[in-house]
Amino acid sequence: MSTLTCDTCVAVDSFFSGKRAKKKYKKYLKSGADQSTKKLIAALIENDVEGITLLDIGGGLGAIHHELIEAGASSAKCADASADYIAISKTEGERRNHSEKLSYHYGNYIDLAEELGSADIVTLDKVICCFDDMKELVAISSSKATELYALIFPRNKWWTRLIVIFGNMMFALLGKGFRIHLHPEKEVEAVVEGNGFERVFYYNNILWQVIVYGKKV
Ligand SMILES: C[S@@+](CC[C@H](N)C(=O)[O-])C[C@H]1O[C@@H](n2cnc3c(N)ncnc32)[C@H](O)[C@@H]1O
Repeated sequence: MSTLTCDTCVAVDSFFSGKRAKKKYKKYLKSGADQSTKKLIAALIENDVEGITLLDIGGGLGAIHHELIEAGASSAKCADASADYIAISKTEGERRNHSEKLSYHYGNYIDLAEELGSADIVTLDKVICCFDDMKELVAISSSKATELYALIFPRNKWWTRLIVIFGNMMFALLGKGFRIHLHPEKEVEAVVEGNGFERVFYYNNILWQVIVYGKKV
């Protein structure tokens, strides 16, 4: 029974489910996380994650939380609007024997934010591009990070704009409610900086940008 309170999250839950989720897990077991996610994990681990707490929002099958726990993080709260991704991440946690360090929270993070509280590191890997209200999602989630706040989201370039237009047309034709959202980097960054953060790491490939922000002292 769904406990999702917004249409965007209902569409997200239905999109990241079933065969799509299983296929992604199979790929992950074979070749690990996506290249951009590997860059983010490496950047976070370089900062030393021993004993830190993590809040992984939209972590999906869990590349970030599983790797950070193995690198020494003490615990991870995983908030996700996809029930199937949560189920897969639980399986992976059991496979790696560290389930006791993970807690799972199904729903729209915005509804869960108060209950989940803060963490040393907060991550949103390819999440804000699935969500229409970037400002609320980023404002609330960045206010919960005490040390580092990390995002991966698409670059706003002509080719990514084309991909988004065609992708969303396809989803509409197929009758899917899911849409990709391109959020201009400056708008995203203004919200994060408003919560007292500055960039400490940046990487991009042709599609994605990986940004880690550190809390200003
Ligand atoms: C494109 S997938 C990325 C999954 C994973 N981070 C990865 O890179 O493989 C987007 C994820 O964000 C989640 N998501 C999107 N909006 C969310 C929201 N408002 N609250 C919680 N989870 C959300 C989806 O359920 C999904 O797991």
